[in-house]
Amino acid sequence: MNEKRKVVISKEEIAEKVKELGEVITNDYKDKNLLVISLLKGSFVFTSDLVRKINLKLRVEFMTTSSYGNDEYSSGKVKVINDLHADIKDYDVLIVDDIVDSGNTMKFILDYLKEKNPKSIKSCVLLDKPERREVEIEADYYGFKIPDLFIAGYGLNYGNHYRNIEDIFVFEED
Ligand code: IMP
Ligand code: MG
Repeated sequence: MNEKRKVVISKEEIAEKVKELGEVITNDYKDKNLLVISLLKGSFVFTSDLVRKINLKLRVEFMTTSSYGNDEYSSGKVKVINDLHADIKDYDVLIVDDIVDSGNTMKFILDYLKEKNPKSIKSCVLLDKPERREVEIEADYYGFKIPDLFIAGYGLNYGNHYRNIEDIFVFEED
């Protein structure tokens, strides 16, 4: 493929949206005990920007999830690769991920963490691709709804690369 990138969401638009989300979350969680659980690897960039826009005392933990399918799209079977090493009973959990696509990852993680009896649990994703949904799920907080495009950058990978690109982009073939 002759790599030509087309920006779908620029780093400036992302920064503005992350700031807005941080403000809303700050307001919603001001009387709560916030624990952000970031789903690796895709959400590492978003999480690092988002938590710095939340003006509260908070805790951050990480889990690694993966789906069995091919590199690009999930198969629906979600696997926990690195589990949480924290008791979440006293916390208001906010799961942070890069994107809700089929919805299988978020659905699985919500069910999985609910079993651990947190005080409350919500989800926050930067991107939402509603057209591809396989399970009925809506993120409590989202940044952008996007059409059915395979995107990369800002933490999202194509193959094993491009997580470091600051804009969210698609490849244009020529
Ligand atoms: P799910 O289909 O909602 O379970 O999506 C799970 C994961 O697939 C996301 O957390 C992403 O890591 C990955 N994913 C979905 N769509 C894209 C995309 O367009 N680009 C890169 N990764 C994606
Ligand atoms: Mg992911």
